[in-house]
Amino acid sequence: MTKVITYGTFDLFHEGHYRLLQRAKALGDYLIVGVTTENFDKARGKLGVIDSLMTRIENVRKTGFADEIIIEEQVGQKFSDIKKYNIDIFTVGSDWVGKFDYISDYCKVVYLERTKNISSTMLREQRRHIQRIGIIGNGRIANRFVIEAKSVSGVNIQGVYNPHVESANKFAEKWEINAYSTLEDFYNNVDMVYVASPHETHYNYIKSSLENGKHVLAEKPMVLQKSQAEELFALAKKNNLILMEGIKTAYCPGFHRLLGIAGSGKIGSIRNIEACFTKLEAPNHRELVDTKYGGSFLELGSYVLLPILKIFGENYERLRFDTILGDNGLDLFTKASFKFPTGLATATCGLGVKSEGRLLISGTRGYILVSAPWWKTTYFEVHYENPNDIEKYGETFLGDGLRYEINDLLMQLTDKNRNDFRLTRGESIAIANVMEQFITEQRGSIM
Ligand code: CTP
Repeated sequence: MTKVITYGTFDLFHEGHYRLLQRAKALGDYLIVGVTTENFDKARGKLGVIDSLMTRIENVRKTGFADEIIIEEQVGQKFSDIKKYNIDIFTVGSDWVGKFDYISDYCKVVYLERTKNISSTMLREQRRHIQRIGIIGNGRIANRFVIEAKSVSGVNIQGVYNPHVESANKFAEKWEINAYSTLEDFYNNVDMVYVASPHETHYNYIKSSLENGKHVLAEKPMVLQKSQAEELFALAKKNNLILMEGIKTAYCPGFHRLLGIAGSGKIGSIRNIEACFTKLEAPNHRELVDTKYGGSFLELGSYVLLPILKIFGENYERLRFDTILGDNGLDLFTKASFKFPTGLATATCGLGVKSEGRLLISGTRGYILVSAPWWKTTYFEVHYENPNDIEKYGETFLGDGLRYEINDLLMQLTDKNRNDFRLTRGESIAIANVMEQFITEQRGSIM
């Protein structure tokens, strides 16, 4: 019996896919089709896949050509599948000519001619009217956002709004986009809003964007009060709009994989989490000067709270803050210590103290260690009692990571039921709640 294998994403199943599977089947007696997981596609930079894994598998199944369907989850899997399934022929379309020649040491490699003038990418472009994103605020992160957006198909940075007109004009000129001098004009020209203005202005901008019918991606921390977060999510829901908090770690494939391993029981029941992020800042930077909204916790707290709230949930029994303050009263270094019903956690961040930025998740059987920069998760290890017993995991983290958030925003647009997947509303509300508690305790009252 001749066994054939082929792989693909098979998004928006089209004639090219059908013809490829038909000819692949005809090469032998038994055809195995590997369908990529969403995470694998993300990891290899194929963002914007529309159909879910289940839909894509179902579409391959319906052709009747596949005798067996498997999922392709990681780099290097093809090689092990060929051995595992005793494959005689590996085949893919001619767009891959040469790329899989190395496999010919193990089985025959056949490149089938690709069907002309059709591809998933083409169908995705046709389907999607390009989303025009408008940016409010044009600080450092907004520059990175413009660069990252270029790598996501289906979006266009339309323009910028900033009440400081001169600053907006400069930014617009640099990136060759529009500068709008009034919010009304801005809203009339965009479909989505990226809020990257100072923290304290987020609430008003998010609210007015939602009232004007725009989807919103808000920089972290989205807002600094629980009631505001609840109100804005309720408004988004009422207006059938997306509201997402932009904590890039939450959307990147490595962190997602890490959460999967943490939740798999591999390290037993989780009992402790330590997350640390420090960044030495020049004393004249906004973060160390703005005595109302600066300081290490407001700046970096969202990152370190993320793994803790994701893993232990939102219902902690106790939360205590310890801080080292600078001369102007801003926290240079902060530790938030949590007690949850089943474990403990510390979230540490610093702008004036440097430490190892690692994430450590300890369980009853072992621990997961992610070295700095864990918030751009590319590599982590699982350790056990036996120090020689170490499992290693690697994932890609492309560019600055913001592309993953933008991509998720688009995914939510195509399928609103997928909402609440990578970062839930509950988690964003919980982060706002912790921020509120921090501000109330450290700075007297909510401002
Ligand atoms: N394929 C083909 N003819 C096409 C499109 C795809 O023969 N017109 C083949 C590919 O070469 C591959 C398989 O179908 O062997 C699955 O390809 P996939 O990457 O899922 O499809 P594309 O349409 O190429 O997707 P994209 O545009 O997202 O790259």
